Amino acid sequence: MRTQVAIIGGGPSGLLLSQLLHTRGIDSVVLERQTKAYVLQRIRAGVLEQGLLDLMTEAGVGERVYREGFAHDGTLLSYGDEMFRIDFTEHTDKPVMVYGQTEVTRDLYEAREATDGRLVFQVSDVEIVGADTDSPKVQYTVDGARQTLACDYVAGCDGFHGVSRKTIPETLRKDYEKVYPFGWLGVLSRTPPVHHELIYANSERGFALCSMRNEALSRYYIQCRLDDRPEDWSDQAFWDELRRRIPGEQAARLVTGPSIEKSIAPLRSFVTEPMRWGRLFLCGDAAHIVPPTGAKGLNTAASDVHYLYTGLRQVYEEGDAEGLDRYSERALARVWKTERFSWWFSTLMHRFPDQTEFEYKIQLAEIEFLRTNKAAQAAMAQNYVGLPY
Ligand code: FAD
Ligand code: DHB
Repeated sequence: MRTQVAIIGGGPSGLLLSQLLHTRGIDSVVLERQTKAYVLQRIRAGVLEQGLLDLMTEAGVGERVYREGFAHDGTLLSYGDEMFRIDFTEHTDKPVMVYGQTEVTRDLYEAREATDGRLVFQVSDVEIVGADTDSPKVQYTVDGARQTLACDYVAGCDGFHGVSRKTIPETLRKDYEKVYPFGWLGVLSRTPPVHHELIYANSERGFALCSMRNEALSRYYIQCRLDDRPEDWSDQAFWDELRRRIPGEQAARLVTGPSIEKSIAPLRSFVTEPMRWGRLFLCGDAAHIVPPTGAKGLNTAASDVHYLYTGLRQVYEEGDAEGLDRYSERALARVWKTERFSWWFSTLMHRFPDQTEFEYKIQLAEIEFLRTNKAAQAAMAQNYVGLPY
C-alpha cells in the first residue's frame, strides 16, 4: 500500500490532519491501534478554542459544533466561599466552546468515512522504518498479517504512549518533564450543571472543577491522590467531597445522580524537542502533555495540526519545504506558552502535599490579585481562550 502521508493514531490529531489534507486532495492513511468504538468512548477534554473551531470548519466538520456546542464568554474561579469571574469578551475578542472531545472525534470519523478516508483499526506492532531517508515506510500487523505502507511523510499522532516519539533516537531528542503529586478523579453524570459557566475551585481540601457537556450532562473533577483508584470512590463519596470544595451557595444547588463514567488521570507536564526527525513529524500528545487545568491538551494538539497541515500544503502545492522545515520550531514556540499557562494555573489551584503554610498564603494572594487586577485577568483570559497560531 502507498499513500502520501501515513498517519499513526486515530485520535483527534490524526483524524483532523487526515480530513484537512483530504480537502486539499492530499492522500493519507490513518492507522489506529484501538477500535473506533473504544476511541469514541474515551471521555476527555470539553473546552475548544476558536483556533480548533476554525480548523474544524476548514475540514468541513464545523456545522454540528456550532449548532450543539455552548459558547462561553467567561469562567469562574473560587477560593473558599469567594467566587469571581474572568470575562473573556472584556479582554479578548473570542469566547470558548463547550463541546466534548468525543463529539469532535465522532464528527471527524463521520467525515472521514463519508469521503472514503482510509482508516485501519486494531493495528499492532507499528514500526516506522527509514524516517531519516527519502522513502519512509510504516509496517504494522492487522488481522494477523504484516503490512507495509510506503509514504512521503509520517505524522506521529499516536498520543503519549505511542511509538512515534520513541522512534526518534534518544541521542537526537531531549525530553522535559514535570510530574505532579496528585491526579484528577472525573465523573460524568446525567444531571444539570451546577452553574452555566465552568467553576475552577481552589479549596483547602484540594482542587475541584465543575464543567459540563450540555444542559443535562455534567462533568466534575476533584483532585485526588495518585494511588486512589476510581473504584475506591463511591458516587456518594465523590459528591460529598465535591460539595466541600466549592462555594456554599453552589454546593447547596448541586444536583447529584449516578455516575455514568468515573476515571482518574495523572497530571503531567511534558515536552520533547525537536518535534521532527527527517520525514517523521510528531503532533499532539505524542510530543507534549499538559496538566488538564485550563483545557489546553486537545487545543495544543490542534495548533500542531495547523502548523503541520500548512507545511504539507506548502510542499505539495508549491513545492516549498519551508513550512515543514520550520514545523518543529513554530509548533514548539506555542507549545511552551501553553505549557507555561497550564503549569501556572495548575500550581495556582491545587493543594500540594508538601506545601508550606507560606506557600498556601502566596497562592491565596495570587488568586486575590487575579480577582482585583484587570491586567492579570487579561493575561488569564488571553491564555484561556487560546494564543494566536
Ligand atoms: P490521543 O487522543 O491520545 O490519540 C492518540 C491515538 O493514537 C489514540 O487513539 C491511540 O489509541 C492511538 N495509538 C496509540 N499508540 C498507537 C500505536 N502504536 N499505533 C497506532 N495507534 C496508536 N485535555 C483537556 O484539555 N481536558 C481534559 O479534561 C483532558 N482529560 C484527559 C484525560 C486523559 C485520561 C487523557 C489521557 C488526556 C486528557 N486530556 C484532556 C488531553 C487531551 O485529551 C489530549 O491532549 C488529546 O486527546 C490529544 O489528542 P491526540 O490525538 O494527540 O492524542
Ligand atoms: C474540562 C476539562 C478541563 O481540563 C478543563 O480545564 C475544563 C473542562 C472538561 O472535561 O469539561
